[in-house]
Amino acid sequence: MCGIVGHVGAEKATPILLDGLRRLEYRGYDSAGLAVHASDGIEIVRAVGKLRNLEKALSEKGLLGTVGIGHTRWATHGRPSEVNAHPHIAGPIAVVHNGIIENHLELRAELEASGFTIASDTDTEIIAHLIHRETQAGHDMVTAIRHSLGHVEGAYAIAVLSEREPNRIVVAKSASPLVIGVSNGATYCASDIPALLPYTNEMVFLEDSEIAVLEAEGFTLTKLDGTPVSRRSRKISWSPVMAEKDGYKHFMLKEIFEQPRALEDTLRGRLDRENADIFTPEIGLSEDDAKRIDRVILLACGTSHHATIAGRYWLEELAKVPAITELASEFRGRDAVVGEGDLVIAVSQSGETIDTLMAAKEAKERGAKVLAIANVNGSAIPRMADASFYTHAGPEIGVASTKCFMTQLANLLMFSIWLGRRRGTIDDAQAAELVEGLARIPHVIAERLRETHLMVTDIVRDFSEARDVLFLGRGLSFPMALEGALKLKEISYVHAEGYAAGEMKHGPIALLDAHVPVVVLMPQDRHYDRVSSNMQEARAREAKIIGVTTAGDTQAQSLCDRFVEVAPTHEALSPFVTVVPLQLYAYCVADHKGTDVDQPRNLAKTVTVE
Ligand code: F6R
Repeated sequence: MCGIVGHVGAEKATPILLDGLRRLEYRGYDSAGLAVHASDGIEIVRAVGKLRNLEKALSEKGLLGTVGIGHTRWATHGRPSEVNAHPHIAGPIAVVHNGIIENHLELRAELEASGFTIASDTDTEIIAHLIHRETQAGHDMVTAIRHSLGHVEGAYAIAVLSEREPNRIVVAKSASPLVIGVSNGATYCASDIPALLPYTNEMVFLEDSEIAVLEAEGFTLTKLDGTPVSRRSRKISWSPVMAEKDGYKHFMLKEIFEQPRALEDTLRGRLDRENADIFTPEIGLSEDDAKRIDRVILLACGTSHHATIAGRYWLEELAKVPAITELASEFRGRDAVVGEGDLVIAVSQSGETIDTLMAAKEAKERGAKVLAIANVNGSAIPRMADASFYTHAGPEIGVASTKCFMTQLANLLMFSIWLGRRRGTIDDAQAAELVEGLARIPHVIAERLRETHLMVTDIVRDFSEARDVLFLGRGLSFPMALEGALKLKEISYVHAEGYAAGEMKHGPIALLDAHVPVVVLMPQDRHYDRVSSNMQEARAREAKIIGVTTAGDTQAQSLCDRFVEVAPTHEALSPFVTVVPLQLYAYCVADHKGTDVDQPRNLAKTVTVE
């Protein structure tokens, strides 16, 4: 939710800031702006809409300085407009902000009562005025920011310029992410790693209640109360090319095609094929801990939540441990029963989703152990967790998650096998079959990807005008049905619902007629016959059936209007193959309709608001 970027160095700031914003545009794209130190003060350019509008505005009015900050916005307070776009300026101060200031109304009233004029409807402008007020009292920028943040409640990552201190940027954070990049002769800041990859791999993650002064030669870091902090930079292994489109029309399509590679990277070094086991020293649980877990609570939002439903099924089946899934936003604040003996697995590709972060924190405070599954190294959820089991999908730029979802599935299955081995609930043969199956999965997916894309493109020609689509599945196919529906909704704006196939007759069947395509997931698993019956029930209501069937399953295919074939797999591995055609279905419908696939309306990739 909003992306911020900053640069201090000898190079011109504008191209670097624009490039950074382009890489952060997935975080919000309803307006954007830059502030740069010029010879006679701070100059600002802002524009409503996508970044290209800001680029156009900048081509008319160049900004020449070498120190600057930028912002791409996802509106929370105040509609998208130029006056609400960041940076916000007050006296000598310019501020960009990602987050939400909860007590902004109270602070606004206080500032207005003491004569400040607030031009926008945003909460961010309040921060600029608070800092300005402190500088009027004679404080330097760092002290002014420290004092101001003492009045602020809520989430923020801010980058601040002051006309009086033109060679530095001051950044601070609480709850929202901020990373500092260091290189020879230049220092950067950004909301996320990909913005800085073309310039440096050396990064430092700011913690909550920390403030840093960025100068060309480096940075100094302290707590908000002034205590010095010493933190070494980490080398990030992602390359800038990983965050490029690489000839694909959209990031989403590239990321779907990257799934075999993302899985290989995630599985690498973790499959112990010799002992039919999983090698995961990073999960921070001893053999005894594994036996003592009474219950697993899986916390996540959106697509990651769908991965956790599959995770729950695997944990129950393979480790015979009671497991529940919870939407992180619903777990919070309702006094859910959690405590010692519970292992909480918080799953989040960004590692920053505020609901997941706060829910996991709440569980940890009540005595549960927290294991994070995240894709972004050093992000907030892994930092608060007791241990982290990272996915290695590489940077995911498309707002609709695909390859990260796939790697979350891999980690959840690996963890279930690991736990099952420790608890003695899976035998050697069963474990060997799963480990070998997992090792082959990247290849199994890769082999069919192009063909599946062609098959789905062809099917979509007949169904792209459908206004409602249902997705049905049982067992491990149920969360994939939910995921297929979410993907379609978010990028093509078509109404879609995912249902447990057995639930159809309890209500949704009333929706069916000849205009409603029903996508039925029917891998050859233990649910096959019952799903077949559910499909017949839909057919009897004249619904058009699109089957996701095992290759060569002519019996199922003969009952479908159209079908896509997936590779036969061990039934526990079916989600890895069945979800691919669903991702491609959503992509092809959206592409056919010409929607903005990588940046769908109203969405943002990292949700740091509640
Ligand atoms: C949908 C999607 C979202 C995220 C959700 C949680 O394609 O990507 O539903 O899954 O916002 O995000 P993370 O995984 O970063 O916690």
